[in-house]
Amino acid sequence: MARRLLIVIDGPAGAGKSTVARILARKLGYRYLDTGATYRVVALKAREEGIRAGMTMELQRLCVRIEIEFEDTEEGQRVYSDGRDVTEAIRTPEISIMASRISQERVVREAMADLQRKLGGPGVVAEGRDMGMVVFPQADVKFYLDATPQERGTRRYKELLARGISATLSQVIEETIKRDEEDQNRKVAPLQVAQDAIYIDSTEMNAEKVAERMLTEIENRW
Ligand code: DC
Repeated sequence: MARRLLIVIDGPAGAGKSTVARILARKLGYRYLDTGATYRVVALKAREEGIRAGMTMELQRLCVRIEIEFEDTEEGQRVYSDGRDVTEAIRTPEISIMASRISQERVVREAMADLQRKLGGPGVVAEGRDMGMVVFPQADVKFYLDATPQERGTRRYKELLARGISATLSQVIEETIKRDEEDQNRKVAPLQVAQDAIYIDSTEMNAEKVAERMLTEIENRW
C-alpha cells in the first residue's frame, strides 16, 4: 500500500475504538489520534475552573486559550493540558460524564474539530464520534465500531478496575447507556453511522480480531 491513508473509526463509548485504533496504527506505522481525549482535557480544565456545561462564553474562552498536546512514548500516548500531564486524570468516570456534557456545546465542538483537523491527515488513525460525518468527511476509510451496551459496559468496568478505580458493573452499564443517549441525541454532530462507513459489531470479537478484519477491509479497497 503506497499511499498513506486517513482512517477514521467512530462508534459509541466502550466499543473498543481506542484499543483497535492503537493496534491498527501500530500495524500500519500510522499515528493514533484520540479525539475523545481533547474533550476530556477541556472537561477537566472546566471543572478545575468551576465552568459548567451551559456557560458558553467561559467555555469558548477556555477552548481558545487551552493548549492540548499528545506525546507518543514507548509506554503509550501521553496527554498534556497546558504542559501538564493529565493522561490519568482525564479517565475518571466523573470526567467521562462531564466530557459528554461539554461535548454537546457547539463552541466546544467547533474548537475541537479545528484542533483535530490540524492533528489529522494522511497516515493517521483518528477515533471518535463524528470523524466520518463532520471532522474528516473526506477520510479514505471509515469504520463504525459497535457492540451491545451490556458488553461495552462490562469492558469499561474491567478497564476501571484494572486502573484501581472503584465502580460497580450495574453502575458502569447504566452510565454507558446514559452516555449513548446523550451522544446520540445532542443537537450538534450526534453520533451517527456515516453512509460510507464499514459497520463492525465487536460484541463477540476481541480487539486483535477487529483490527485484522479492518486491515483486510483496507487491503481489499486499496
Ligand atoms: O471516547 P471518549 O469516551 O474518550 O470520549 C469522551 C466524550 O467525548 C464522549 O462522551 C463523547 C465526546 N466525544 C465527542 O463528542 N466527539 C468525539 N469525536 C470524541 C468524543
